[in-house]
Amino acid sequence: MSARPDLLQTGPMMAMIEAQLNEHFTVHRLDAPDAEAVLTEIGPRIRAAATGVGSTGGGARRVTDALMARLPALEIVANFGVGYDSVDAEAAGRRGIVVTNTPGVLDDEVADLTVGLVLSTIRQLPQAERYLRAGKWPSGAFPLTATLRDRTIGIVGMGRIGKAIAQRLEGFGRPIAYHSRRPVEGVPYRHYPDLLGLARDVDVLIVIVPGGPETNHMINAEVLAALGPTGSLINVARGSVVDEEALIKALQQGTIASAGLDVFANEPHVPEALIALDNVVLLPHVASATHLTRNAMGQLVVDNLTAWFSGRPPLTPVPETPVKTPA
Ligand code: NAP
Ligand code: 8YV
Repeated sequence: MSARPDLLQTGPMMAMIEAQLNEHFTVHRLDAPDAEAVLTEIGPRIRAAATGVGSTGGGARRVTDALMARLPALEIVANFGVGYDSVDAEAAGRRGIVVTNTPGVLDDEVADLTVGLVLSTIRQLPQAERYLRAGKWPSGAFPLTATLRDRTIGIVGMGRIGKAIAQRLEGFGRPIAYHSRRPVEGVPYRHYPDLLGLARDVDVLIVIVPGGPETNHMINAEVLAALGPTGSLINVARGSVVDEEALIKALQQGTIASAGLDVFANEPHVPEALIALDNVVLLPHVASATHLTRNAMGQLVVDNLTAWFSGRPPLTPVPETPVKTPA
């Protein structure tokens, strides 16, 4: 790599990422108290940004068109996470800026967690554990629960992670169908071009599509009504994909039976109304949160940046920014 380029870090990141960024770049922090001064003074020199909004990158600033406008020398934005809805990738593409994400290295981890969340939600594992810990077992058995045995599973999004989830769920011997805008070649499951049709026909609806304007509130009151009173919603995608108000109402009124949620509209804040409900399982955005997988994601963030500044193409550019090699 040439002389250390100036890099903007938009929020806290894993220690292993920060150590390597500091080794290869002159790092400027946007979560520092003097962030505005940093932007004004250093902005024109910034050639790279490292970002990640979410459970690890909480507090990080979104990479908006307005922020990029203040960074005229910006060449590359490396996002920690396969989902990059916190980066305006279209705007980056227009500006000739590469955006990279971390696809592939987390598929199995997220799929494993999703299966756990499905079972936890339908067989009420956290509720049963709370029951035991509260000393209620001696006064009677935990109530019987719903089952996966008589259920059909629908997956919204049949990409890398959707496929990994489906492969695991095949082991449960239940019918699987999916919705995406285009049918996926080579998968054996029924494709529904219409989300409402899928919701009507299945009992468990697992959501694993990207966030952003196109999928905003795609799981709305109508979809929840179609899922019906014995239905369960599992969201491991983004909080924005589900109309949270409509979901709370549906859970309170028995429009659907239960929900398992790893993601929320306003993380890390979770509505009290959801916390008060017993027919939900709530996780703090942990689907990829193991040492192994987060390290692999972190390394990919660094490797994309170092590849770029060594004159090589980025390893995992997002489709909106198909820049192949550094200038
Ligand atoms: P991917 O390989 O790009 O797959 C995305 C799938 O969603 C594709 O099947 C795509 O098919 C479908 N899709 C996209 N837009 C759609 C729309 N408007 N309507 C219907 N279907 C749509 O992505 P991935 O790697 O599987 O990751 C998916 C998402 O999961 C990420 O973007 C991220 O937000 C989320 N995620 C969450 C966690 C977590 O910690 N909870 C961890 C990892 C990922 P079509 O393009 O044909 O519609
Ligand atoms: C991370 C994720 O938890 O990859 C994604 O899209 O949502 C998760 O793997 C998140 O990116 C952490 O900031």
